Amino acid sequence: MTGVTTMSETSTKTRKVALVTGGNKGIGFEVGRQLGKAGMVVLLGARNQGLGDAAVAKLRHEGFEVRFILLDLSNRETIANAAKLIASEYGHLDVLVNNAGIADPSDGPPSGADIKCVRRVFETNFFATLEVTQAMLPLIRKSEAGRIVNVSSGLGSLTYNGDPKWEFAAIKRIGYNGSKAALNMMTVQLAFELRETPIKVNSANPGFTATDLNQHRGTQTVEEGAEETVRLALLPSDGPTGGFFRTHRPESLVDQRSGFQSNVQ
Ligand SMILES: NC(=O)c1ccc[n+]([C@@H]2O[C@H](COP(=O)([O-])OP(=O)(O)OC[C@H]3O[C@@H](n4cnc5c(N)ncnc54)[C@H](OP(=O)(O)O)[C@@H]3O)[C@@H](O)[C@H]2O)c1
Repeated sequence: MTGVTTMSETSTKTRKVALVTGGNKGIGFEVGRQLGKAGMVVLLGARNQGLGDAAVAKLRHEGFEVRFILLDLSNRETIANAAKLIASEYGHLDVLVNNAGIADPSDGPPSGADIKCVRRVFETNFFATLEVTQAMLPLIRKSEAGRIVNVSSGLGSLTYNGDPKWEFAAIKRIGYNGSKAALNMMTVQLAFELRETPIKVNSANPGFTATDLNQHRGTQTVEEGAEETVRLALLPSDGPTGGFFRTHRPESLVDQRSGFQSNVQ
């Protein structure tokens, strides 16, 4: 049957494709749901097949086109294989949401945090996230309007960390906060590199959201926590790049105090 294109193949080829890392729960799962609602084909990345399949089943039940993709940020082979699969099945990637992230109880202030823990947190939140981005970039370049959203945190803001009056000033975890600051640097530098392309790269600050990451102590719902990431994933062509954004705060849509309201456009 060579040369025959079925209806479903046509629709898959013309629909936008999004990859969400750590998509099996929390903010990533909600981002997947909302991108599905926006009409995208959603590839839910997860390191555990069972958890990934269960999450995919829930979103399919809601009527969205969602597929599990094995993506363990601690396993380079899964990153390379995911890129190969997306290349062969879709040929491009429109949206990459770098959402997977960890916190660690052995993390702490720079004077005493367990160094192995700091490395572990950086490994997932920064190094592996950079690796996923590098692996997916050739596919994102094939999109007409690629979007990369790095799910960062207010804890990654140098300005907030330096403000003793900031509401979360007491949370000084060099591994977590440092890895998110490094992620923000990646956003700014990659946006600069890609400034002559249609690709937009931004960081989202979800705000304090009730998920497993904080034993559900967060004060926002996952819908609220996902909102900014989804907005950045769906930015129009005149939208910003190289910035750090947050909604659900009275101060503004744009986090002016984040330390990198960059001018890359
Ligand atoms: N919740 C907040 O208040 C808050 C605030 C600011 C920023 N954030 C950021 O938001 C993002 C999502 O966090 P969340 O609150 O939704 O936490 P969560 O519910 O704990 O979800 C984290 C997700 O990341 C996945 N993950 C962790 N390590 C991974 C690895 N090595 N490979 C693949 N997937 C991995 C987890 O998979 P498993 O289920 O297999 O563990 C899970 O799917 C994180 O980057 C976090 O730093 C959260």
